[in-house]
Amino acid sequence: MRSLTEKAWAKLNISLDVLGPRPDGYHEMRMVMQSVELCDDVDIALTDTGLVRLRTNFRFLPCDERNIAAKAAAAFFAAADMENPGLDIELKKRIPVCAGLGGGSADAAAVLRGLNSLFGKPFSVEQLEEISRPLGSDVPFCIKGGTALAFGRGDELERLPNFPESSIVICKPAFSISTPELFRHIDSRRSHVHPDTEGLIKALEEGSIRDIARRMYNVFEDVLPRRCEEIGRIKGQLLDLGAVGTMMSGTGSAVFGVFEDAAAAAQAHAELGRSYRECFLTCPKGEVRA
Ligand code: C5P
Repeated sequence: MRSLTEKAWAKLNISLDVLGPRPDGYHEMRMVMQSVELCDDVDIALTDTGLVRLRTNFRFLPCDERNIAAKAAAAFFAAADMENPGLDIELKKRIPVCAGLGGGSADAAAVLRGLNSLFGKPFSVEQLEEISRPLGSDVPFCIKGGTALAFGRGDELERLPNFPESSIVICKPAFSISTPELFRHIDSRRSHVHPDTEGLIKALEEGSIRDIARRMYNVFEDVLPRRCEEIGRIKGQLLDLGAVGTMMSGTGSAVFGVFEDAAAAAQAHAELGRSYRECFLTCPKGEVRA
C-alpha cells in the first residue's frame, strides 16, 4: 500500500473543568471529550522525495513544518527511527480552526494512524498516544476518539461509555478566542464553579441524554470577555430551537447544541446556517478501530 485516506474527526468537550495551574506552566484539567462525525479527510501518499509536501484547501494555514500534520509525520519517523522516505499529505479541511473543536489535533492524530497503517502497524494504539503527546494536549484523545475522560494536561485518558444516539448542531461565530487569555482569566479568579463531572459520567453510564445535557458545563464560559456575548446568544437560539443542552467547546469559539429530535436539529442547522457560514449538523462518533 502506497497511499490512504484517514478521517480526522472533530472533538467536543461535553464538560470542561480547570483544577488549577501546574508547575510545568500547563493547567490540571478534567474534561469529558466526545468525537463527532464532522471530520477532515487526510490523504497520505508515500513518495521517494525524502520531503513532506503538504497541501490544504484552507489557504491561510501554513504548509511547511509549522503545520501540526507535518510535525506529526516527523514525530512518527523519529519514534520509528526511520528516514522519511517522502510524503504527500493533503488536508481536506472542514473543521473550523481556532474553534475549540480540535481540528489540528485531529489532523495530527490521523497522520499518525495513517503512517502506522502504511508502515505495517509498528506501533500499538497506546504507543501512538504516547508519540502524539508532545504535539498537543488534545492529540492523544484524537488517536482513538469516542467518549473519554481526559485529565492531567488533558492528555491522560480513561474510556467512558458511548454518548447516546442524538443529533448535534455546531456553530462557530466569525471571531476566535485566545486560549492563553482564557486560562489567564481563570487563574485570576480565587475560585470558580466546577462541573459535576462524576454526575455526568454516571449519566453517560445510564445513557440518559437529558441527565447528560443538564450536566454539560464549561468553566471557560464564565470568564469570556465581553466582546464574546454572541456565544450566549447562539446558545439561546439553540435552546429555543429545541436543543436539550448547549455548550461552548474547549476555549471556543464554537458552540454546540445536543438534540434528541433529528428534525429539530435539522431545522436549527438551517436557521443558524442563514447567519453563520460555519454551521454543521453532525452526531456523536464512537471509538476508532486503529
Ligand atoms: O497543549 P496545547 O498546545 O494544546 O496547549 C495550548 C495552550 O493552552 C498552552 O500553551 C497553554 O497556554 C494552554 N494550556 C494549559 N493547560 C493545559 C492545556 C493547554 O495551560 N492543560
